[in-house]
Amino acid sequence: MKKIILGVTGGIAAYKAAELARVFVRSGAEVQVVMTPAAAEFIAPLTFQTLTGHPAYIEMYTERSGEKIRHIDLLSEADVFVVAPATANTIGKMAFGFADNLLTTLYLAADCPVIVVPSMNVNMFKHPAVKDNIDQLSRRGCLVMDPDQGELACGVYGSGRMPEPADIFLFTRAALKPKDYKGIKAIVTAGPTREPLDPVRFISNPSTGLMGYALARALSERGAEVTLISGPTHLRAPAGVKKVAVNTAEEMYRAVFDYYDKCRLVFKAAAVSDFRPLDEKKHKVKKADAAYNLELAPNRDILLELGKQKGSRHLIGFAAETKEVIENAHDKLLRKNLDLIIVNNLKEPGAGFAVPTNRVSIINRSGEVEKLPLMEKEELADHILDRVSDLL
Ligand code: CTP
Repeated sequence: MKKIILGVTGGIAAYKAAELARVFVRSGAEVQVVMTPAAAEFIAPLTFQTLTGHPAYIEMYTERSGEKIRHIDLLSEADVFVVAPATANTIGKMAFGFADNLLTTLYLAADCPVIVVPSMNVNMFKHPAVKDNIDQLSRRGCLVMDPDQGELACGVYGSGRMPEPADIFLFTRAALKPKDYKGIKAIVTAGPTREPLDPVRFISNPSTGLMGYALARALSERGAEVTLISGPTHLRAPAGVKKVAVNTAEEMYRAVFDYYDKCRLVFKAAAVSDFRPLDEKKHKVKKADAAYNLELAPNRDILLELGKQKGSRHLIGFAAETKEVIENAHDKLLRKNLDLIIVNNLKEPGAGFAVPTNRVSIINRSGEVEKLPLMEKEELADHILDRVSDLL
């Protein structure tokens, strides 16, 4: 479990810090809130105490059962210190090394990563004094998150809004991950493909792309340069990932080979359609003219072709099976010249398409099987990357 120190300063966005504390707690983190006296004017310490299960500290010293607590001790074993919202005033004090309250004192004493989430009026954010202070903090290694654009509390439109708690959570999670994929170019394919019958009908499958998008995000968080080649999904490309949208298996084939030369890793999580209608009609087929039999033509197997031209790259395949799961998947790994294959049994609850969880086994070339419990696809993505990192 991660230990997060959440520093809250006195801006109107302080109310959003309550939701942020909640998001951190829900992710399984232990959260300790420290507030500036001004923050306590905007939101009650009791709100944070209720959400985190720990008192929110404001003062440097507190009497508790006759004993003085040194709040510097709050930092022991902290994994990250997140200052959100960070006002221009606190940013200035941090940049100049003031230690006039608990929060600024903790910043000076912190030896864990520090994340700063500026939040203020647009003109304040643009002011050279604030810019210089933010640059100073970045130079010293603080991770500064860009504010959102939008309507600010003062009624003006512009940059300075505190980002949504979910985005601050993702930024924090990324900061805590190892950067073991730094400098590595990776392709991830995701989602289904659509094979058109006519302008309004197609053959496809229920893939939503969740696994591939989770891998793309985790790779990017761990430092990789990621190209995500995606069939149609409703998912947003993760921050920092280049997305190439495709429709058919043939388009996916061409897009993958456009990027294959320069990449070192391919994660083939897409559910590629094995067949397409032999004859795609130019106009919508009318009911009266429809034939009852559909003639199909096979699509090229993208992964098989990648395996033939593999060189020193690493290829990771995915398989969804319903019987002889491990044997079928290992056969695929050998036939397609892969390094690892991730297989799930579609008959098991919580595994497979369109659910946020998966229960998989990871198989290597020598046929060793690692059977994993049911887990969130986001968590599974990092687990897969740990295994691939061992191979690299
Ligand atoms: N794959 C691919 N191109 C295809 C079909 C599959 O690149 N035309 C990839 C998938 O992205 C996946 C792996 O091959 O990583 C296994 O896909 P799967 O559909 O399970 O295997 P198939 O070889 O199509 O075997 P079968 O459908 O007979 O089980």
